[in-house]
Amino acid sequence: MVVSNRGPLSFRQDVHGTLQPLPAGGGLVSALRPLLAGTRATWASVTMGAADRAAVDQGLMADDRVALLPIMVDDDTYRGAYDVIANSTLWYCHHHLFDLPRRPRFDRYWRQAWDSYRRYNQAAADVIARSAEPGTVVLVQDYHFSLLGRMLREARPDLPTAHFCHIPFADPNMLHVLPDAAADELLDGLAGFGACGFHAHKWEAGFTACYATAGLAPPRTFVSSLSPDVGGLPAEASGPECARAADALRAEAGDCRIILRVDRVEPSKNILRGLLAFEELLIAYPQWRGRVVHLALAYPSRQGLAEYLAYGAEVTHVAERINASLGTPGWTPILLHVEDDRPRSLAALTLYDVLLVNPVRDGLNLVAKEGPLLNAADGVLVLSHEAGAWEELHGVGAEEAGAGAGAVGVNPFDVTATAEALHTALSMDAPERAARARWLASAVRSRRAEDWLADQLAAAQ
Ligand code: F6P
Repeated sequence: MVVSNRGPLSFRQDVHGTLQPLPAGGGLVSALRPLLAGTRATWASVTMGAADRAAVDQGLMADDRVALLPIMVDDDTYRGAYDVIANSTLWYCHHHLFDLPRRPRFDRYWRQAWDSYRRYNQAAADVIARSAEPGTVVLVQDYHFSLLGRMLREARPDLPTAHFCHIPFADPNMLHVLPDAAADELLDGLAGFGACGFHAHKWEAGFTACYATAGLAPPRTFVSSLSPDVGGLPAEASGPECARAADALRAEAGDCRIILRVDRVEPSKNILRGLLAFEELLIAYPQWRGRVVHLALAYPSRQGLAEYLAYGAEVTHVAERINASLGTPGWTPILLHVEDDRPRSLAALTLYDVLLVNPVRDGLNLVAKEGPLLNAADGVLVLSHEAGAWEELHGVGAEEAGAGAGAVGVNPFDVTATAEALHTALSMDAPERAARARWLASAVRSRRAEDWLADQLAAAQ
């Protein structure tokens, strides 16, 4: 049984009151869906509102490739658990993104939301405890379910469990921004799992350090990074829809080289410094003006959160300002697209000359692996030291004679250094580009998404 907040299917009610299925967004669901399809797994996920609950009541929450198990929660519980605790507290804490002079504020409203988070985790524990056959292995995904390990251990000690965290884990000093009782409850909740897994060793180190600081024994840990679907993704990217999208993008970019980014608009992704670095590149190296474009595919995420909306508005504003100051009648420097479009994203990954993945802190950044897998232009990966994928893709120490290996690394906070890295990538000679691209593609192909799932199954106890 796999457990995640978001499942493969969700619904909205149209103006006539009819329930319409929505394609599920986000990397986690698109990674899990092909892995679970056609297996004997059950996928338990939470209803995200009234339309989902109505779909469950009407028997519409069903998928012919995988058994679905809905975890029903009311709107207040969901909003407190998902918006306030999971996404505005724990997500910011683990990404070290609290704006400490202003936030967080742990007041009486926050404490009500923490109660909602507890109820949400308990709702999951109750459904799993009722439905799981004896001995079912339960693989729980992400920070929405930090308390579930202890609850399941108490309700069903026979079930082997593992928790996998797709985001970074806070260092002890950041975890202890949380109210003491909440930090204790969180560490105890996670310690109830049979094992806790991470995409990168540095997140595992933060996790065990939190237990050491609290004087507690950590649960067993493991590191296993997710990989793209190395068979299915290239097949999808070579299909007709992506080919049409690639033609459109080529026409839009003209003869210019392409610096690409593909991200959901989240404060961790560092889209603003990416735009500013591109501006600095054009100022420091004016020879690139009219010869390169920054194709920024920046798609909506968590639109219920004011900070996300403000961040998205700032991205648009900064892109427009740079275009107004540096663009010419025949050349728009930044091509910003904000509507989610998967064929266009995959097409762009086949085309880029440079892929910029510069998060301030991020669990993995699957796109840093998808790019080298799909790219057909010997594109260079410029990758933040703070991305989980950096551990696997830096290539340091693996250089072939005379040529580089792996990604070009950047400190994500340093706009000037990022501009220099973009210049290095654009100026790189063809043999080095080819050598790096070959190294990256083979590093990505050395692991399959199935390995990641198998590691969780093996770790669960
Ligand atoms: O893609 C990263 C991620 O943060 C996952 O860790 C997480 O489960 C997912 O996004 C959640 O996205 P959403 O809130 O849109 O469901």
